[in-house]
Amino acid sequence: MANRITTLFDIKYPIIQGGMVWCSGWKLASAVSNNGGLGLLGAGSMHPETLLEHIRKMKQATDKPWGINIPLLYPEMEKLIDLIIKEEVKIIFTSAGSPKKWTPLLKSHGITVVHVVSSAVFARKSEEAGVDAVVAEGFEAGGHNGREETTTLTLIPNVVKHCSLPVIAAGGISSGESMLAAMVLGAEGVQIGSRFAVAAESSAHANFKQKVYELEEGDTMLALKKLAPTRLIKNAFYEHIKELEDKGADAETLKTVLGKGRAKKGIFEGDMEEGELEIGQISSMLQREESAENIITDIVTAYEQALKNIEKLSI
Ligand SMILES: Cc1cc2nc3c(=O)[nH]c(=O)nc-3n(C[C@H](O)[C@H](O)[C@H](O)COP(=O)(O)O)c2cc1C
Repeated sequence: MANRITTLFDIKYPIIQGGMVWCSGWKLASAVSNNGGLGLLGAGSMHPETLLEHIRKMKQATDKPWGINIPLLYPEMEKLIDLIIKEEVKIIFTSAGSPKKWTPLLKSHGITVVHVVSSAVFARKSEEAGVDAVVAEGFEAGGHNGREETTTLTLIPNVVKHCSLPVIAAGGISSGESMLAAMVLGAEGVQIGSRFAVAAESSAHANFKQKVYELEEGDTMLALKKLAPTRLIKNAFYEHIKELEDKGADAETLKTVLGKGRAKKGIFEGDMEEGELEIGQISSMLQREESAENIITDIVTAYEQALKNIEKLSI
């Protein structure tokens, strides 16, 4: 397939593995890139020295295109941007903040910049800021989320209508069929998080992966809306947050309870009760560990089959 997304990144399939804290290091990202998708390192959980190590390993592990996701809340932005420019990283996905500040500098160094949005308004703002493409992420998604709770099915056509940039759909997409649905709505690529978060090459703890394989419908919820809305697995930590939120706790209180290192404790260290366990709604469909190669092959095969089956749907 050739479209604006495969051309922009020079990749075989318009499948992007979302940058994910504590999951997407060089092992996962290089496996995705080596199998025709676009792998992203998740810089959000890395100090600059750690990121440098992952960049160096990535360069050895693949000669295919790859990129880095930076949540714009990152505390050491200057250091990180310096590092990215010095290491000649070619693709950056920014999220969780305004793309206005850093996009011009990144673009002036010839870097392709993509920004993650949860509404058509933010997509337009990203276009004005000069990014090359947007990820439109519905509230089904794992990780940080839009406050408005707009679903992927509603978000994609809206963003496609109001923004002329190529759109990458995210949130609830894990199969060839859901990828095709997103493409029919006007997306030119998909960003997948949850399915890759529990892949064999993901650096997430085995307890976290196992927990995800056992999840059923309704086992994740959007929490922390007053702070940074995040989709979480219901565990003791989530219940505590919910109780506080039901009583009207303010952002400061939630921040104190959240503390530091909660996502690391859960996703990376395997504490299933006190950790912050981020995963998307589609987790209820994920039942076993697969390699990144298998995931991509399965998605591409199912996509082709679904495309053939579409004719039967003619009215
Ligand atoms: C464990 C986990 C960690 C994530 N961390 C980040 C992150 O650091 N930065 C980011 O932009 N998105 C993050 N995300 C969101 C993903 O990149 C992706 O956009 C999202 O998972 C897509 O929806 P899906 O989970 O339904 O596939 C994370 C998602 C998960 C599941």
